[in-house]
Amino acid sequence: MAKGKNASVFFCQECGYESSKWMGQCPGCRQWNTFVEESVVTRTQGKSTAVSGGIKNKPASLMEISLEEEDRLSTHMQELDRVLGGGLVRGSLTLVGGDPGIGKSTLLLQVCRNLAGDEKNVLYVSGEESLKQIKIRANRIGDFSEHLKLLCETSLETIEEIIRRTSPDVVVIDSIQTMYRESISSAPGSVSQVREATSVLLQLAKGLNISIFIVGHVTKEGTVAGPRVLEHMVDTVLYFEGDRHASYRILRGVKNRFGSTNEIGVFEMETSGLKEVLNPSEFMLSGKPEDASGSIVVCSMEGTRPMLIEIQALVCHSNFGIPRRQTIGTDFNRVNLLIAVLEKRLGLSLGNCDAYVNIAGGIKIQEPAVDLGIAMAVVSSFKNKMIDNKMIAVGEVGLSGEVRGVSMIQARIQEARKLGFTTCVIPSVCMESVKEIDGIQVIGVKSVKEAINLL
Ligand code: TYD
Ligand code: MG
Repeated sequence: MAKGKNASVFFCQECGYESSKWMGQCPGCRQWNTFVEESVVTRTQGKSTAVSGGIKNKPASLMEISLEEEDRLSTHMQELDRVLGGGLVRGSLTLVGGDPGIGKSTLLLQVCRNLAGDEKNVLYVSGEESLKQIKIRANRIGDFSEHLKLLCETSLETIEEIIRRTSPDVVVIDSIQTMYRESISSAPGSVSQVREATSVLLQLAKGLNISIFIVGHVTKEGTVAGPRVLEHMVDTVLYFEGDRHASYRILRGVKNRFGSTNEIGVFEMETSGLKEVLNPSEFMLSGKPEDASGSIVVCSMEGTRPMLIEIQALVCHSNFGIPRRQTIGTDFNRVNLLIAVLEKRLGLSLGNCDAYVNIAGGIKIQEPAVDLGIAMAVVSSFKNKMIDNKMIAVGEVGLSGEVRGVSMIQARIQEARKLGFTTCVIPSVCMESVKEIDGIQVIGVKSVKEAINLL
């Protein structure tokens, strides 16, 4: 299909499918109502789209490719390094997404500061803030080295030229939605502009071996604005999330070509920038009530790291025909299911009770290993019986009320021990794989009923 000057084209915002007319359903990804109109101009030909960017490119065998230690740069932020898979890979393209005001610019400015302190040449390109605004932010963070250069620019051509001329080690683009190429007539932030900007940055990253961070805004649905293809193009996708009202922030890897995606990094927003939280369990448990019913500590695995979290339940008599059920930080349907199990298998009459379940600290957990904790907290609140506050519980609960096995049990018990817990309730099927640890008593349970009897 030949596109004339200023021809108008429709793009699917989900997958980037291109069509000459509007369609209700995208033939590419089968999503409904995702097409947006954009006017585009055909690009001038001649430029290679190969990511290597080399002129004399030739196939190489694996033996010829050497990996040096230097290929990963440390950002001097353990939490970030771990999420990246052990440091920043040279020549990688990393997308950092998150709600406005969550701290993306702050995080990346701190990363720039640390890398510049290591005598790496860093270029911070901002399309959103003026140099003065960045300076004000930088003043809160601390001293910066000379190796960090700032640039306020939104024109892709200019940025590309400056990067090619100065060839820095690390570049930050804040944000991709503000970048535009003049030859494309659609507005900055549109599908074609975002896609174009990303592909230019991808060529720069791979061709010149520069590590590039891209900041991306997030839509209401929680994905990076622009087509899904953006996530496919980059090497690493990180989401920066957290409750705006709470001070902690979580950095989560969603895609990582150089490491695991299960890792999370925990930060706290302070008056002088983001501070790493190296022991999140302690942080999450601060403020836990000493002797209240309906509260229990569970251990959830966030990647390879165990994290202790308090679960709170409140069960009270309902004044309405239909009891209220509410959950914060955990899956609503899962909690309903657990309450049904408690009714049927333990004969508790929860049918005329309101039940509220809250994961303290505002964190969200999806892991089924917290089921047993939720069930015990609900029963504890229902019976108004306190749970020993030196006890933790882990286990998945099945529909017949059985407690099923969970992974990495030893690491969870060790974490509990480290924070001074003395009893650990675990699925009995996991008992074999547990090595004895001094100072903590491990109790295996087969069913929720057995666990409840421990209250
Ligand atoms: P920012 O990095 O501008 O967010 P984003 O780039 O994701 O939109 O973060 C801004 C918020 O962080 C703002 O509400 C102020 C707060 N903040 C602090 O609390 N302490 C600090 O030292 C800094 C720099 C920002
Ligand atoms: Mg910002």
